[in-house]
Amino acid sequence: MPFSSETADALSEFKPAVVSFHFGLPSPELLARVKAWGAKVLSSATTIDEARWLEAHGVDAIIAQGLEAGGHRGIFLSDDLTTQVGTFALLPQIVRTVNLPVIAAGGIADARGVAAAMALGAAGVQIGTVYLLCPEATTSRVHRAALKSDAARHTALTNLFTGRPARGIVNRLMKELGPISAAAPAFPLATAAIAPLRSHAESRGSGDFSPLWSGQNARGCKEVPAADLTRELAAGL
Ligand SMILES: Cc1cc2nc3c(=O)[nH]c(=O)nc-3n(C[C@H](O)[C@H](O)[C@H](O)COP(=O)(O)O)c2cc1C
Repeated sequence: MPFSSETADALSEFKPAVVSFHFGLPSPELLARVKAWGAKVLSSATTIDEARWLEAHGVDAIIAQGLEAGGHRGIFLSDDLTTQVGTFALLPQIVRTVNLPVIAAGGIADARGVAAAMALGAAGVQIGTVYLLCPEATTSRVHRAALKSDAARHTALTNLFTGRPARGIVNRLMKELGPISAAAPAFPLATAAIAPLRSHAESRGSGDFSPLWSGQNARGCKEVPAADLTRELAAGL
């Protein structure tokens, strides 16, 4: 959802120490409100140009989101998906370009991946996919089944589920209508458009019409508490 003044009102009660945006940044007025309570501001860059833009607009750290990453792409300066770069090509170029801490995201699935990102200049890593089977995650039954199956080896970027490109496991909807389609309603309206079909299929145990978000490396997914997984991932630091 877009970051609104209502969201800023709600957050200002809790004053989180870090606020991480996706799809660029909110308006300068809203950003100033977040900074006023002392929060550090993060956002994702998917290209060198986006990293430069975020630095010029006052973020405290940049997440270098490689093409492998699961879920929505943070792309915001362009609609051209051919501009998107793999993590280990993007990360060192952003590290060289900006004067800020850079956090690596996309395809990192074990302690060796974490160490490799740090060796390429990352100040930290952001990992999503490997946590999706943890008991704390709200991952649905059909989504968990897909992540555990061979289907998880084939992911693609699709705009069919929300209207914005995001990486998920290829399923029937993606094969038959996309994975990218100009007919998909604009973000976030596509979510409501697909909802009836999705819930009907899910009630029959089918993920054919569900967003099965996953990065290109789901091999590190484990059904263990998130704290244990985090300790494993950090083992080499
Ligand atoms: C299910 C799922 C939901 C996500 N939701 C968000 C989100 O709300 N905001 C955000 O900045 N990134 C989100 N991400 C992207 C991650 O922040 C990160 O870029 C990505 O997970 C890293 O790649 P990996 O999935 O290969 O670990 C999400 C990722 C997944 C898998």
